[in-house]
Amino acid sequence: MLQALAKASAALVPRVAGWVRTMASHQLLVAPPQALLKPLSVPQQLLLGPGPSNLAPRVLAAGGLPMIGHMHKEMFQIMDEIKEGIQYVFQTRNPLTLAISGSGHCALEAALLNLLEPGDSFLVGVNGMWGQRAVEIGERIGARVHPMTKDAGGHYTLQEVEEGLAQHKPVLLFLTHGESSTGVLQPLDGYGELCHRYQCLLLVDSVASLGGAPIYMDQQGIDVLYSGAQKVLNAPPGTAPISFSDRARNKAYTRRTKPFSFYLDLKWLANFWGCDDKPRVYHHTTPVISFYGLRESLALLAEQGLENSWRQHREATAYLHGRLQELGLQLFVKDSAIRLPTVTTVAIPAGYDWRDIVNYVMDHFGIEITGGLGPSMGKVLRIGLLGCNASRDSVDRLMEALKEALQHCPKKKL
Ligand SMILES: Cc1ncc(COP(=O)(O)O)c(C=O)c1O
Repeated sequence: MLQALAKASAALVPRVAGWVRTMASHQLLVAPPQALLKPLSVPQQLLLGPGPSNLAPRVLAAGGLPMIGHMHKEMFQIMDEIKEGIQYVFQTRNPLTLAISGSGHCALEAALLNLLEPGDSFLVGVNGMWGQRAVEIGERIGARVHPMTKDAGGHYTLQEVEEGLAQHKPVLLFLTHGESSTGVLQPLDGYGELCHRYQCLLLVDSVASLGGAPIYMDQQGIDVLYSGAQKVLNAPPGTAPISFSDRARNKAYTRRTKPFSFYLDLKWLANFWGCDDKPRVYHHTTPVISFYGLRESLALLAEQGLENSWRQHREATAYLHGRLQELGLQLFVKDSAIRLPTVTTVAIPAGYDWRDIVNYVMDHFGIEITGGLGPSMGKVLRIGLLGCNASRDSVDRLMEALKEALQHCPKKKL
């Protein structure tokens, strides 16, 4: 075996003599990639898919600020400001509020890994992709998972949730506020109170809705709420706001077993984010520059005011819906009361392949929209108006592109 390897590397040497450098007895076997010797090239695009969205200019500028240490006092100050910003956008006074160093999925894992223990009963609203992911993670933890499965486009009434609570006696219920794979906005009034009557905690995903649709964590009795930076916040993907109520904190802190993840262990994170009375202890090296961006995106939302941001999304999306219908397109979610004001799902027009439309709009106009995801795959096109992209100007640019796409993309005779 060793002989064969030696023969093979000897045969390689003459061909790669230009770059092989010898250090002691080792040779470099992998050449510097040609692709990295060229300048980085990234196209300018208008990101009107379900996320990520374009970065707000102030967030982009924050990415160029000097690096500081993750344990420096200036960084702890920035983390404290992020925490206050999250408390504002979540409308919560929970002291246990922080940002996860990871994407929305990581925040979901943080919630589930800390709240569920093997054998716990876990009730999940599966009306799209995100409930499916919660089921998958819950099963990996060894929870007894009870999916309440609905067709894409559905949502949960209080009565349906109560039936699930009574039947399965879960310790935790998962609901998605903004179901970005289907375009549905889940109502939340009364659900927290209902869960608490059944000794159950309420966990809500607001990755696609935060800042675009009203949510009131404390008043709605939500025990764990998480979101992502890359949607309405117009910040880079990779950081995720999350907050735990006192009830949720007690459940996580009195568990019988340690959570399987050290990286996402709530007690460690809480300490690192200054949420307990102890001195902060190093846990992991945080994404410092991404946290600058998150801080700036929360500052922008604080300056604008939540109500103004909600109105901006409602108005831009209503304008989009009107323009789509003028073009003869059908909205996928029939009940206007549960349409998500950030991500719109449009039924794929008869005779077209959704990929042709998505590709045309990108290739000819540099605008991103996407097809469906999970249960809505092949059924819808998805259009996101997120944060600074929630404007009439974005809609007008997209409508010009869509109109042309419908004229030029092949259409099967029906
Ligand atoms: C509603 C919702 N939840 C969770 C996620 C997962 O977030 P991430 O891709 O940041 O992990 C997404 C991403 O699109 C989402 O829209």
